Amino acid sequence: MRPQPDFIHEFVPGKSERTLLLLHGTGGNERDLLPLGKELDPSASLLSPRGKVLENGMPRFFRRLAEGVFDLEDLQKRTQELGDFVISATKHYEIDNQQIFAVGYSNGANIAASMLLLRPEVLSAAILFRAMVPRIPKTKPNLNSKWIWIGAGSHDPIVPASNTKELVGLLRSAGADVTIRFFQSGHELTSDDVDLAREWLTRLQY
Ligand code: MLT
Repeated sequence: MRPQPDFIHEFVPGKSERTLLLLHGTGGNERDLLPLGKELDPSASLLSPRGKVLENGMPRFFRRLAEGVFDLEDLQKRTQELGDFVISATKHYEIDNQQIFAVGYSNGANIAASMLLLRPEVLSAAILFRAMVPRIPKTKPNLNSKWIWIGAGSHDPIVPASNTKELVGLLRSAGADVTIRFFQSGHELTSDDVDLAREWLTRLQY
């Protein structure tokens, strides 16, 4: 039986116990981040779902009302659904549920941040490229022993630096170990992001 609830997804088995949960940006799909996953950790398994929400035909992981303005009810529902999918996929593919590392870009980074706040047990670590505060949780989760790396663009027209800093503060105040790097770029992902994220991941002894 396939993982329930199901998402259209790719699964690429790896040689190590680690699995990268790849979460694409708006308009992406389940194949987009596979090369990035391989570049970040060639030995990890890759689990890459496609977001179920369509915005003018473009897949996303949750609805938004405008750029940077999120439908919070939908975000909550979709975060739970994605968390359930990941748990069920760990059983289906027989992968270690204590070594799931999210790698998200833009909309994918935002649902990964939402998962850290709402379903922290699903993820051990996260690499968030161009993330923003998805929601302010009513009760703060316990993020002790979670490692998070955030790559931000200092000229990002979608995510202001103040928002990234707010996200860092929120995650740190919940106990997470957060590394933040600003790049001379906009919302796009740069090779410097990938190089530094890979270095961080390689050094991470989990
Ligand atoms: C979002 O909607 O998650 C953010 O605005 C980033 C984007 O996907 O454009």
